[in-house]
Amino acid sequence: MNIAILPGDGIGPEIMSEAVKVLKALGESFEFEIAPVGGAAYDAVGHPLPESTLKLAKEADAILFGAVGDWKYDKLARELRSEQAILGLRKHLTLFANFRPAILYLELAGASSLKPEIVSGLDILIIRELNGDIYFGQPRGVRTLDGGEKQGFDTMHYSESEVRRIAHVAFQAAMKRDGKLTSVDKANVLETSQFWRDIMIDVAKEYPNVELSHMYVDNAAMQLVKAPKSFDVIVTGNMFGDILSDEAAMLTGSIGMLPSASLDKDSKGLYEPSHGSAPDIAGKGVANPLAMILSVAMMLRFSLNLPEQAARVETAVKKVLAQGLRTADIQTKDGRLVGTKEMGDAVLASL
Ligand code: IPM
Ligand code: MG
Repeated sequence: MNIAILPGDGIGPEIMSEAVKVLKALGESFEFEIAPVGGAAYDAVGHPLPESTLKLAKEADAILFGAVGDWKYDKLARELRSEQAILGLRKHLTLFANFRPAILYLELAGASSLKPEIVSGLDILIIRELNGDIYFGQPRGVRTLDGGEKQGFDTMHYSESEVRRIAHVAFQAAMKRDGKLTSVDKANVLETSQFWRDIMIDVAKEYPNVELSHMYVDNAAMQLVKAPKSFDVIVTGNMFGDILSDEAAMLTGSIGMLPSASLDKDSKGLYEPSHGSAPDIAGKGVANPLAMILSVAMMLRFSLNLPEQAARVETAVKKVLAQGLRTADIQTKDGRLVGTKEMGDAVLASL
């Protein structure tokens, strides 16, 4: 099994080292190939997603991705900014289905900004469409109107096939869980959203055992902090999913705990922590490697067909939390503060 390792920028390389350490300890025959991506690739060869990195990612069985971005690249032309690396990988590899689970670990209830009774036992799954919407819609840019005023613009659209394929992924995921699917849109205002909703209702006919409901995105943002446990699976477009998945992440106390998977139609995937590159703490050895390690577990389960190994990794993570080990982002009263490497070593030990 060939795994492309793309550490990226900021804390990416530090947390990736811990994840690779855990993978190596599983005793399977993995081959690793490392390639630069994001700002690191821009510095090395002048482009955030070099051809050679893209080729490696296409040929691999699965991709482990750290994080990209640093303020120092924010002034570059858009096509050279670090974010283009992850957007380009999603698009070129047709990774359209983004799974972002938000699970609250028992021991971390105190790390959430919400009352423990609101979040304890929380286990929701956000499925975000990743290849369409206003993120990729054309035309976009800045134009000059008649009369000379300038105007910035982007285009939101979803084609029927794009909505259908993410709908099927979401209904199938809901069937494996509690059978409750909430489709989030803004159908009271946007044509694209009304179209999305109509297709969801049509696809629902093929899944009589799943209970489909619809919610406007503003209400969904509110319900996520009011009664987050009322959700099971949420399916939504690229833009709304970007925002709601960060909100859901925070219910669990720290975005440093949450893995994600971005899959194509054959379940080939890219696995990355939901958090970003955190340049403010990069190189200090204090970042939480658990989201990256849990992304390894998702990779084992979804792309490499090794569910038992995935469960081993997840159990090991639960054990270190039960032992009271905490990185700074998930510090609780009773916890023992550790750094990135110490946390990785502890996961390894409990494996
Ligand atoms: C995410 C990130 C990306 C996105 C950025 C880095 C382009 O926020 O994965 O949620 O907006 O999709
Ligand atoms: Mg985001």
